[in-house]
Amino acid sequence: MTQLAGHPIPVACFDPSAPEVQRDPYPYYHWLLRNDPVHRGVNGIWFVSRYDDVRAVLAEDRLVRQGIRDFWSQLVGPGPLSGILSRTLLFQDEPDHSRLRALVMPAFAPRALRSLVPEIDRLVDELVDPSAGELDVINDVAYPLALGVISAVLGLPPKDRDLIRAWSLRIGPTLDLAAGPGEIADGQAAMAELTDYLTDLIRVRRGSGDLLGTLCADGSASREEVIAMVVTLIFAGHETVTNQIGNGVLALARHPAQLSLLRALPDLIPDAVEEMLRFDSSVQSNSRQLVDDLELRGRTLRRGELVVALMGAANRDPERFADPDRFDVTRTGVHPLSFGSGMRHCVGAVLARLELAAVFRALVRLPDWTLTKNPGELQYQRSTMFRGVLTLPIAFTAQNPRSTP
Ligand code: HEM
Repeated sequence: MTQLAGHPIPVACFDPSAPEVQRDPYPYYHWLLRNDPVHRGVNGIWFVSRYDDVRAVLAEDRLVRQGIRDFWSQLVGPGPLSGILSRTLLFQDEPDHSRLRALVMPAFAPRALRSLVPEIDRLVDELVDPSAGELDVINDVAYPLALGVISAVLGLPPKDRDLIRAWSLRIGPTLDLAAGPGEIADGQAAMAELTDYLTDLIRVRRGSGDLLGTLCADGSASREEVIAMVVTLIFAGHETVTNQIGNGVLALARHPAQLSLLRALPDLIPDAVEEMLRFDSSVQSNSRQLVDDLELRGRTLRRGELVVALMGAANRDPERFADPDRFDVTRTGVHPLSFGSGMRHCVGAVLARLELAAVFRALVRLPDWTLTKNPGELQYQRSTMFRGVLTLPIAFTAQNPRSTP
């Protein structure tokens, strides 16, 4: 059981930026799912919540990214941030979207990622220390793991990870509707530094065997597009995984019987990862703009209007999932929409699942976890799209390293 999800809260005009929604969106989602599945919310934006509708929206050719890209570029104003936003894969439409996506897909295919598994396990072993007795899941484990893994794929030097993390912490807040002028100015400066760093790195890495070298050697993307791709992969590759590890730990901490079950039956972990993605996804929604009118559940959505697909709500749709607010690691065939769907399905889904399975295999072995903060005191990241806590301290019974199984 989640805190309030069984009690839908009436929604007159859904606003995902409201602090109470960011703290716990699920009661609001339940009201939308039940009463107004194609809902006209804040600023006239359409919010779509049911599983089948979200899938249909994500597969719809009439829904594109151009308007979303222009919106964010205008919000941050001229400068290095909009330079990247205008070129990132995330905001391209056809044919550039497919051209850029084809450049990176081979590196994220299951076969290519197989050789990365020992590095993921090594990082997990290094970060999850059973003798520590306590750790902050977000800052001690999730961030360094997710950033370490995407850096290894790209071929970014390990010594530069702290630098990259510091830039990313300054850039992240600019991708929020509530970003103030100070945050945007600092984000612009950080993006300029990151772009200079990558420009220098590309000069020396051309032709190396990692993804960065491959991207540079491929003539079908400009230097600016390569830089935008690397920035995109750094961000998409570590913020999402970090938050998902935190959300999964929170779900387990609030459901100790499920945690005990996983400890006893670690073979359940791949299914448990799907359930964690469904139950509390680190990406809650994705936005599109209509280039033509669209009929959906008797509503007419007009050309030019914005549509937000609420994957976080679709993952709790009772039409699709029996008893959707129950966290149950024994569910099978879950297929959450957390990685999106259709031609923009997450490039890093296989990689993320590998990381999540590896880290939860190690985390469930730590004996007697407890959160050292009251869940009510946890601070959520300010974002309409991403969901995750800023810190997540846990305590457990420290083990003598030699007695660890
Ligand atoms: C739990 C972790 C993750 C979640 C929940 C997640 C979620 C998503 C979602 C929902 C989309 C679709 C966006 C849309 O429809 O507009 C997406 C796209 C994308 N993701 Fe992930 N992601 C995760 C991890 C990763 C990782 C590890 C990478 C690193 C490679 C990555 C790279 C990307 C890229 C490049 C796209 C753009 C795909 C496109 O537009 O064609 N993601 N992700």
